Amino acid sequence: MGRKRRVGIWMYQNGGGDKIEKKLVKKLKERGIEAITGLNLRDAYVKSSHILCHGINMDKLDLFFSYNAGEQTQYQMYLYKALNRMVPCINNYDAFELTEDKFQTNYLLRNNGVKTPDFRLCHRDDSKRLKKFIQSWKQMVYKPTDGWGGVGLTKIDNEATLDTLLPFLNQMDLRFFYVEKFIDYDRTDFRIDIVDGKFVGCYGRRAGGGDWRTNITSGGSVFLREAGDEVVALAKKAVKITGLEVAGVDIIYDRKKREYLVLEVNGIPAFATPEQEKAGLDFNDRKIEAIVELIDRRSNDKVKDKK
Ligand SMILES: Nc1ncnc2c1ncn2[C@@H]1O[C@H](COP(=O)(O)OP(=O)(O)O)[C@@H](O)[C@H]1O
Ligand SMILES: [Mg+2]
Repeated sequence: MGRKRRVGIWMYQNGGGDKIEKKLVKKLKERGIEAITGLNLRDAYVKSSHILCHGINMDKLDLFFSYNAGEQTQYQMYLYKALNRMVPCINNYDAFELTEDKFQTNYLLRNNGVKTPDFRLCHRDDSKRLKKFIQSWKQMVYKPTDGWGGVGLTKIDNEATLDTLLPFLNQMDLRFFYVEKFIDYDRTDFRIDIVDGKFVGCYGRRAGGGDWRTNITSGGSVFLREAGDEVVALAKKAVKITGLEVAGVDIIYDRKKREYLVLEVNGIPAFATPEQEKAGLDFNDRKIEAIVELIDRRSNDKVKDKK
């Protein structure tokens, strides 16, 4: 018998995250893996070759599972990057960092044959070009490349809207403009959860009120939805290209072009909340099982390396 494996976890606690974490810890324990929770890199510091967090030497862990979207700071990302050099991380840092940026992700997806909404990027001083974009598209969406929850997304319906918006955009300290063609869709999407390359669950979201965004934070609601083979295959392909171990892919159907498009690949897709579980979203246990299986395999790799 080898030594006992130890993995670190930093997991969101709201929306039922605390209960999910308990299940994860229990299932890992059943496999002889000790899990140390609450390892928030925000509280960590570095002492020469060691990243120390709450008295734990993180670079001696067999694996680090980072699953907290809302509280990610630049400092945490910086330490995550360093830790990833020493310890297997889920998600691996490179894929996570990639998918934190919508432009970088879409650029890579597009060049690997995955359809996304058409997008454009130009320097912040090049507003002339931005005008050309709207002229060719009629409607577009301005997006912060690192946002989430639909925050900061602005629909631009015509050139006049762009003209009124530009002074505000210019006031902000932006490096560039990232815009997407506004897709004619039915204001619903698919959220496909993939773990370790395998499909674990699907649900739909529907925009609320007059909003065109499906995000819950923008008034959207969740509904039961089955994914067909085409949608699942598209999600799997997108995840494979990004390199994420755990991912949630947002997909919409373009009514004009009659095709599915990948809207976003999320590195920390939330589990179903207790209310959503009551409403019938039943993938949590499958997802936990798949993550435990993945952690078990990856943490083993490290133990073997050390022998
Ligand atoms: N190009 C687009 N065309 C139409 N609707 C869009 C487009 N991009 C985003 N949306 C809507 O806005 C929502 C949020 O966009 P998304 O890119 O997923 O950003 P966030 O990270 O904020 O969730 C999507 O769920 C979708 O409903
Ligand atoms: Mg989204």
